[in-house]
Amino acid sequence: MPNNSIDAVITDPPYCSGGRSIGAKIQSTTNKYENYPQGRPDFLGDAKDGRSWLMWCNLWIAECFRTLKEGGYFLMFCDWRQLPTATDALQIGGISWRGVIVWNKGLGSRAPHKGYFRHQCEFILWGTKGPCNIQNNGPFPGCYEEHVRQKDKHHIAGKPTALMEELCKVIPYDGIILDPFAGSGTTCVAALKTGHQYIGIEKMPEYCEISNQRLRQITE
Ligand SMILES: C[S@@+](CC[C@H](N)C(=O)[O-])C[C@H]1O[C@@H](n2cnc3c(N)ncnc32)[C@H](O)[C@@H]1O
Repeated sequence: MPNNSIDAVITDPPYCSGGRSIGAKIQSTTNKYENYPQGRPDFLGDAKDGRSWLMWCNLWIAECFRTLKEGGYFLMFCDWRQLPTATDALQIGGISWRGVIVWNKGLGSRAPHKGYFRHQCEFILWGTKGPCNIQNNGPFPGCYEEHVRQKDKHHIAGKPTALMEELCKVIPYDGIILDPFAGSGTTCVAALKTGHQYIGIEKMPEYCEISNQRLRQITE
């Protein structure tokens, strides 16, 4: 991909946060992340330990940095377990870290045990390639509440389409949005619905097909 060609990266990489021991980490993503399995395909790349995850993130974030335009936005999902490492990875990759957006999933989210605080939020680290281009719109919310609905969930780690649409709206109209870990294509769907161009990359053919079906439904 050419240097300085992308307006924004919005992505949700494998968190590799499920399981602490090697035995637990190499379990299927269904076992790690779904209380009530729905038959969605297991996804790839989720068994790295903490150090390897950091180094791997450095590699792909540096490529995102290279392909981003000056001032382009970089938004990356992570959970509470990977939050400290992810903020390091983003900066080592060259992105200027500017904040953390909270995604509040509501009270329906996973609650591990009595006596625990609910794991109710995931986080979206945000930054830019160099100085932030000040736009006419914004400021944008620093917290979004959006519940996960099964009929809008096409991937074990699928994100709500409405949430992704809100994030895409920040990017100037017709800009190119890249998601290097597209999964079921939710970022691409949201980009299309909000008047943007998109590039989605996904290693699993099953999820590429699901993305293509979703995108076809919109264009039709
Ligand atoms: C957390 S999921 C993304 C889910 C997406 N946000 C959605 O709503 O469907 C991450 C995806 O990255 C894919 N993946 C893992 N390693 C990859 C790689 N090296 N290149 C491209 N895709 C990869 C996985 O197969 C998985 O589908």
